[in-house]
Amino acid sequence: MKKLKAGILGATGMVGQRLVTLLKDHPWFEVAALAASPQSAGMTYADAVSNRWHMASPIPERAAGITVQDASKISAVSEQVDFVFSAVSLGKAETLALEEAYARAELPVISNNSSARMLPDVPMLIPEINSHHTAVIPAQRRRLHIKHGFIAVKCNCSIQSYVPALTPLMAFEPRQIMVSTFQAVSGAGRVLKTWPEMEGNLIPFIRGEEEKSQEEPLKIWGQLNADASAIIPAAGPPISAQCIRVPVSDGHLATVSVKFAKNPGREAILDRWANFHPLAEYGLPSSPPQFLIYLDQQDRPQPVLDVNAGRGMAISLGRLREDPVFDWRFVCLSHNTLRGAAGGSILSAELLLRQGYLTHQEESS
Ligand SMILES: NC(=O)c1ccc[n+]([C@@H]2O[C@H](COP(=O)([O-])OP(=O)(O)OC[C@H]3O[C@@H](n4cnc5c(N)ncnc54)[C@H](OP(=O)(O)O)[C@@H]3O)[C@@H](O)[C@H]2O)c1
Repeated sequence: MKKLKAGILGATGMVGQRLVTLLKDHPWFEVAALAASPQSAGMTYADAVSNRWHMASPIPERAAGITVQDASKISAVSEQVDFVFSAVSLGKAETLALEEAYARAELPVISNNSSARMLPDVPMLIPEINSHHTAVIPAQRRRLHIKHGFIAVKCNCSIQSYVPALTPLMAFEPRQIMVSTFQAVSGAGRVLKTWPEMEGNLIPFIRGEEEKSQEEPLKIWGQLNADASAIIPAAGPPISAQCIRVPVSDGHLATVSVKFAKNPGREAILDRWANFHPLAEYGLPSSPPQFLIYLDQQDRPQPVLDVNAGRGMAISLGRLREDPVFDWRFVCLSHNTLRGAAGGSILSAELLLRQGYLTHQEESS
């Protein structure tokens, strides 16, 4: 298959660097354009990130020599690519305006940003859970008066661990959920060595995160309306979330307590997790062989030991036990810049390609 040409908006940032790294040897996509703010535009990618390359592997050779473009120069970027990943750090309104401008230029946009997430005709994807929500894309195209462009988004990284764990348990009708998240510094685009306030400390506030952690799962568990013009969020279950920044490099860990209408036994829960393979039919390159991995050791999962499970795309679970107030409680962990950002958006792009929404520009013109 001829590879699709991908552009990356916000290529110099934490998520952008992950995207560049993950796309290095991708079987379906290749990096064709890199864009960021006007400050980085005009430099080679290697120069633009020279003093802030945070990945463990070196800058991929092909990307290193690409000249970074100004992301606001939409037609110049559009000419070179079939679709874009967006990972810019801008205000909400500016981000939405930029992403819609790319969509109106007939480019699919796969976004890590929150601006378009709650729009009813924008699919917010965890591909294993709501791949059917992409059916709303034709309605979004009608709203924007376009034929081939669209915006699809990834959800917030904080919910990426517990929503996958709760979804296979929906048959037991969860009634109340209480979650605390312990979120890595890379989730703020930062590293420990340049964030001294985090040393030996934690910060019990992440702006907007608790609201997103409570609301976004309901959209993911929502259903399309009758004419597939909108995703209607689920009415429940209600979630109470507290989000804490902790001195961890990578990995968002969540503790979850849940009350069910039909309280399942321990074996039933473990069985549902072990047998949750919803993407098997698609054969997507970034899909981990086992999505939900339960660890029996009582001190797991731990970010340092488990964050890279399934090349950072699996969710690690542990400590399933009865709860004296709710029914069950457990711990879950996901990699926030892999599964929670760059890897998750690449998986979404793979799904969209398989479903026929991502194509070569010449096929769509
Ligand atoms: N980090 C995570 O784990 C994570 C997870 C999920 C979602 N996200 C979301 O992903 C987005 C990026 O996060 P990040 O952590 O990668 O941020 P970051 O490290 O701060 O990177 C921000 C990127 O945006 C670019 N940018 C800034 N101003 C711009 C402008 N005016 N025009 C075009 N580009 C501009 C920057 O370019 P310059 O280098 O030129 O300034 C840089 O490439 C955010 O919306 C964030 O909420 C992050």
